[in-house]
Amino acid sequence: MKEKVIDYTKNSFIISDATKKILKYKKSGSVLDVGTGTGRNALFLAKKRFDVTALDSIKKNLSKLKEVASKQRVILHYKHANIATFKTSKKYDIVLALVSLHFLKNSQVSKTIKKIKNYTKRGGLNIITVHTKQNKGKSHSRPHLFKKNELKNYYRDWKILECKEVWGHLFKTEKYPIPVRKHRAQLIAKKI
Ligand SMILES: C[S@@+](CC[C@H](N)C(=O)[O-])C[C@H]1O[C@@H](n2cnc3c(N)ncnc32)[C@H](O)[C@@H]1O
Repeated sequence: MKEKVIDYTKNSFIISDATKKILKYKKSGSVLDVGTGTGRNALFLAKKRFDVTALDSIKKNLSKLKEVASKQRVILHYKHANIATFKTSKKYDIVLALVSLHFLKNSQVSKTIKKIKNYTKRGGLNIITVHTKQNKGKSHSRPHLFKKNELKNYYRDWKILECKEVWGHLFKTEKYPIPVRKHRAQLIAKKI
């Protein structure tokens, strides 16, 4: 049976708060959405007229996103790639990495964040949300849960516009009808 495609564009509740906050700082520009998943944030930003590249290492996620984007007549660019090995000469106004970087191996995190920073234009933004080590137990395990202040420390040479480490409910989907509660570090920083 064909899997049901969730149309995230029809439910603004599940757009990440971090994504909505972008509109406070930028009204247009190019976006690289690292670990786009099925693209709830990519679709939202493209509908707001950002030029969005949706990157994910899982092809199936990009296929679902393509299906929804085409139904909605939303234009996106797609990259099937692992961010740890992805290379580009392009620089973006915004790099978004929401709930994706804790899937990297410990040895890849610092280099990958350095790379994301490098792929950002001067004056551009990085918006990142990651799970922290406060999430204990098997069901919360990820290859790299972030230590206290770890995310913030990677951005010591940028202007940190917003940074918080808090418990919160992430989002609700058909798979998780009760919003998932996680401790996360969230950062919005500007390249100076
Ligand atoms: C929890 S989902 C988050 C999706 C989306 N950012 C959101 O907020 O809805 C994490 C996504 O990151 C992707 N991902 C994990 N590691 C990745 C990597 N090394 N390179 C690219 N994508 C990756 C996964 O395939 C998955 O689609």
